[in-house]
Amino acid sequence: MTSEKLQKARDYEAQYAPFIPCTDRPAFHLSPCIGWMNDPNGFSYYKGQYHLFYQYHPYSTNWGPMHWGHATSPDMLRWTYQPCALAPDQPYDNGGCFSGSAVELPDGRQLLLYTGVQRRCREDGVRQDIQTQCVAIGDGLNYEKLDVNPVLDESDLPAGGSPFDFRDPKIWQEKDGSYACVVGNRPADGSGSLLLYRSEDAIHWHFDTIIDQCYNEFGKMWECPDFFPLDGKWVVLTSPQDMSVSGLEFHNGNGTLCIIGSYDRESGHFERERLQSIDYGIDFYATQTIESPDGRRIMVAWMQNWDACALPNRDQRWFGQMALPRELSIRGGRLIQNPIRELEQLHGRRVWHQGIVCEEATLRGVYGRMLDMTVSLQPIAGDVYQCFKLRVAKGSQHYTMITYKPRTSILRIDRSNSGSCRDLVHERKCLVRNQGGALKLRVILDRFSIELFVNDGEQALSTTIYTPLTADGISFECQGQVMIEVEKYDLLTEKGESEHV
Ligand code: FRU
Repeated sequence: MTSEKLQKARDYEAQYAPFIPCTDRPAFHLSPCIGWMNDPNGFSYYKGQYHLFYQYHPYSTNWGPMHWGHATSPDMLRWTYQPCALAPDQPYDNGGCFSGSAVELPDGRQLLLYTGVQRRCREDGVRQDIQTQCVAIGDGLNYEKLDVNPVLDESDLPAGGSPFDFRDPKIWQEKDGSYACVVGNRPADGSGSLLLYRSEDAIHWHFDTIIDQCYNEFGKMWECPDFFPLDGKWVVLTSPQDMSVSGLEFHNGNGTLCIIGSYDRESGHFERERLQSIDYGIDFYATQTIESPDGRRIMVAWMQNWDACALPNRDQRWFGQMALPRELSIRGGRLIQNPIRELEQLHGRRVWHQGIVCEEATLRGVYGRMLDMTVSLQPIAGDVYQCFKLRVAKGSQHYTMITYKPRTSILRIDRSNSGSCRDLVHERKCLVRNQGGALKLRVILDRFSIELFVNDGEQALSTTIYTPLTADGISFECQGQVMIEVEKYDLLTEKGESEHV
C-alpha cells in the first residue's frame, strides 16, 4: 500500500519535475528528479534494466527527511525517472530512510535493505537517532516494508557497538544462495568498523564477524561500506567521516578509502595489503558497486562531498549528481577505475590532433561541455617540460585548469574560476606514476562536471563545476614543450539529448 507520505512525494515530483529543462542538468550523469540527492542506493540489475535509487529530499535542494528516489536505465547513462520508492513513513524510519542496497530474491521480487532512522527523545530532552536495518520488497516500482522490521538492531551489535551509528547495509548473494551484508558501525573507540552479517533469506540475519576496523587511523565513522572480490583479492570500499590529510593520499573531511587485501571466509579474517584513496578530486563520496550481468564490477558514487556542497544557485530546483559508473579492476596492487565501456555508444563526432605544444593554443574542433577526450603527453627527445596546462570549460571569465609537473609528478585540478561563488575547496593535487613526463589523461565533461582518468585508470579525479554552458573552450599550454596527441568525441544521447523528464 502506498502511504500518504510516499504518495505526497510522488505527486510532488510528477507536478514539478517536468518544469526543470533537461539542458539545465547533466545529460548522462543521474541527477535527482527534483530537489536534493546524495548517496547512490540499491544499485542493481533487475528485470533487464539497471536500477539506481538515491538518497532524496524532493521538497528542497537541501538535505531533509530522507526518501529513496529511483531511476532505471538500459546502459547506466540514459536514465528514466521512476516514482519515489521509499518515504520515511514508519515509526522505525520516521527520521529517514537512509542508505542501503538491493538484491533479487529467488521468487523474482527485489529486496531493498536500508537503514531506518528512528527519532527518539531521551528523558532529559536530548534527541537521539537510533539506526537499524530494515527491508522492503517489491517489483521494481512499488515496495512494501515488512512487518518484521527492523531486521537488525542494537541487539545484533558486537560488544561496544553504537546504535547511533549503525548504517548503510550493502547486501549481496553468495554462490551457495545465502546472503551477506556489511554495515558501517562505530565501536567503543569512536572510530569506524565494518560488520559482516549473514542470512539464509535476506530477512533473518545474524552477526558473523568484524571485517576491518579503523582504530582512529582513517577518519572516524566508516560510511557506505562495500566488500567484494576483485581479480583474486578482496576489496573494502568505504567513505570515512572526519579524515585527516596524509601527504597527497587522503584529504581532510569526508574522504574515500579503498583497502585491498585477502579474505578467508572460514575464519572470517580479512588481511589488509594496500590502502589508497578511491578518488583524488573534490566531489566524490559514498560509493556502491554491483557485478553486472557480464561479470564486471561497476562502481557508482555521489559526485559531491558533504564539505563542498554549498548551493551554486538558489533558483535551481535540483542539487547533486552521480559520478559516471566506473569499471573496477586491480593492477600493480592498485584499484583501477575506468568509465563504463557503454560510454563509447554515446560517441559522436571524432576529432584527432597531434603536434607540439608550447604557448597556449586551441585546436580545431576541440571544444564542448559533453565530451570524452584523451590527451596523451610525450616529452620530446628526453627534454622534460616544466608544466603542462589544460584548460577546459573556458570562456571569457571562466576556466577549469588541469596542470601536470613531471619533475614532481603532481597532477592538479583547480576550479577556482569555474562559476562557484562559494568559499569552498577548489583545488586538489595528486601524485601520479612518474613516467618521465609521459602522461595519459582521459577527460569526461558532462555540462557541470569534470572527471579525469589518469594513465588508463590508475587514478581518478572528479569535480563538479558551475560554469555557464557558454564557456565551452579548451586550450593547451606548456612551459617547455611537449608532444601531444588529442582524441576527442562529442557525447550524445539517443535524441541528441538526455531522457530526462
Ligand atoms: C553518507 C550518509 C550515509 C547515510 C546517508 C544519509 O553520505 O551520511 O551514512 O545513510 O548519507 O543521507
